[in-house]
Amino acid sequence: MAGISRCLALHIVLLLAGAHGANILGLFTSLSPSHLVIQMSMARILAEQGHNMTVVTVLKPPSLHKNINHILVPMNEDTLSTFSSLVGGMTKTDNSNAIVSMFRSLKVISEAFSKMGDVMKQPLIRDLYEHADNKFDLVLMGYFMNSYQLAVAHKLKVPVVVAVSNPPSFLGYVLGNPWEVSYVPAMNMAIESGQSMGIGHRALNLLGSLGSRLFMYVIELKNTKIYREIYGNDPTLPSYEDLNKNISLIFFASHGISEGPIRPNVPAVIEVGGIQVKEQPDALPENMEKFLSEAPQGAILLSLGSNVKQDHLSTDTVQKMYNVLSKLQQKVIWKWDDLENVPGRSENILYSKWVPQDDVLAHPNLTLFITHAGKGGITEAQYHGKPMLALPVFGDQPANADVMVRQGFGLKQSLLTLEEDSFLQGIREVLENPKYANAVKSFSTLYRDRPMSARESLIYWVEYVMRYHGAAHIQSPVVHMSYIAAHNLDVYAVILGTIVALCFITKLVFGLVFRKLRQSSGKPKVNQQRKLKKKQS
Ligand SMILES: *[C@@H]1O[C@H](CO)[C@@H](O)[C@H](O)[C@H]1NC(C)=O
Ligand SMILES: *[C@@H]1O[C@H](CO)[C@@H](O)[C@H](O)[C@H]1NC(C)=O
Ligand SMILES: *[C@@H]1O[C@H](CO)[C@@H](O)[C@H](O)[C@H]1NC(C)=O
Repeated sequence: MAGISRCLALHIVLLLAGAHGANILGLFTSLSPSHLVIQMSMARILAEQGHNMTVVTVLKPPSLHKNINHILVPMNEDTLSTFSSLVGGMTKTDNSNAIVSMFRSLKVISEAFSKMGDVMKQPLIRDLYEHADNKFDLVLMGYFMNSYQLAVAHKLKVPVVVAVSNPPSFLGYVLGNPWEVSYVPAMNMAIESGQSMGIGHRALNLLGSLGSRLFMYVIELKNTKIYREIYGNDPTLPSYEDLNKNISLIFFASHGISEGPIRPNVPAVIEVGGIQVKEQPDALPENMEKFLSEAPQGAILLSLGSNVKQDHLSTDTVQKMYNVLSKLQQKVIWKWDDLENVPGRSENILYSKWVPQDDVLAHPNLTLFITHAGKGGITEAQYHGKPMLALPVFGDQPANADVMVRQGFGLKQSLLTLEEDSFLQGIREVLENPKYANAVKSFSTLYRDRPMSARESLIYWVEYVMRYHGAAHIQSPVVHMSYIAAHNLDVYAVILGTIVALCFITKLVFGLVFRKLRQSSGKPKVNQQRKLKKKQS
């Protein structure tokens, strides 16, 4: 008996050892704090699973798990402040048009990102693959238009998986995901889920899809240059175009069957939407817990995200917001950086530099989320079933807000033209009309209903790729095909050529036959005529 249980225990230990303790390198060198939140949550989950996570970032991560070895790569202050002021500049133009806004901000951001390549030249990064003590089993690359990071995985000769903070319509083509423009809305086209598009929408969608492909093409041209500049003609590295072909799979921050759009995905597309949301919320800081539990009329969370610092907002707008919020019966937690300089003091407002947004949104007494409509915040609110008032600022935010409004989870207002009356009305409407809370609560149920939770999927697929030292066997063959072969253009050309040749031959043959026939039936006539003529004469 004792022997059996010892044997069992040994087996369990061995099983655990097999799944645990891999060395994983997280390359998260993007300048976007909201992307870093998602990437760091993946690192945290893998560390909690017992893996030895080494994480490289440029920005200071929001929080660090104790089992994560963190490497902070120093970044040129100029680049950081350029990026921050670029973000700020964008609040001053009206960005209510989703598609225009996306392109404008992507363009501006991509300029700042051309400097991002410098990170790869840092000794700290080179050390990762040049230092003999570093042994990694997998690279998890956080994507933000910086595919040249993949070179590190090639240098280490280990499999690589990628984390993208968008749905598969964004980078899926790298995996050979089908490009279905007639019924899959491009990234920022808000279309009622389950509806098919009319001709106008489809034309727009085609334009939008082509536009985003063109945009990626330009980015990749730039990145090719950056890559050549960093790695020169290093013979151990593939060409930039071939870097992507080694990606085992991509984790997308989406969940198509609840959020839409419904689309076909290749097996290497793994959707882990909501990965940054904890399945069980952590306890709140004492003051927040107390504040929220004494909220008989409910509570509001106001957060305009990490990219927009309050000095990018006009003091006028802030004052108007304060005037409205301070008169509400609800409690308000306001994410505010400068605690020395608050918009005003009121019993019902708690300012906090740091807000555990996910945990606050999970609180049962929270009844409204006023947000800049970043994908992360919206995802958290949807997960916890909380209605929203969106004040989008730039980038994908206006589009995120549009989709949220269409889904019936709340309202959208412009931060630039914010007025006290309309702001108050918006808040009242979302709080008092139950349709918003009901819609988002039922979505929450659908969103959480999965065969494997986002967390489980991440762990499963990361360990899967490590078990097989890469996942080339699940890769779509399209990845290695030329454009012509992938679209069967050569086959169509052969078929078309054959048809044309057949037509030509047929015409030739018939032409010949006709001429022959005419000749043979014509000659006797001539003869007869001659005979006739002869007879007459
Ligand atoms: C974890 O990974 C780092 C980086 O490769 C390495 O230096 C360290 O020794 C590893 N720790 C363990 C316990 O394997
Ligand atoms: C919510 O607020 C009510 C009324 O203030 C309070 O009794 C309750 O404890 C709060 N709920 C939670 C979970 O804190
Ligand atoms: C990528 O390269 C690694 C190491 O050379 C290899 O193990 C893996 O199978 C490759 N993955 C794909 C998808 O080709």
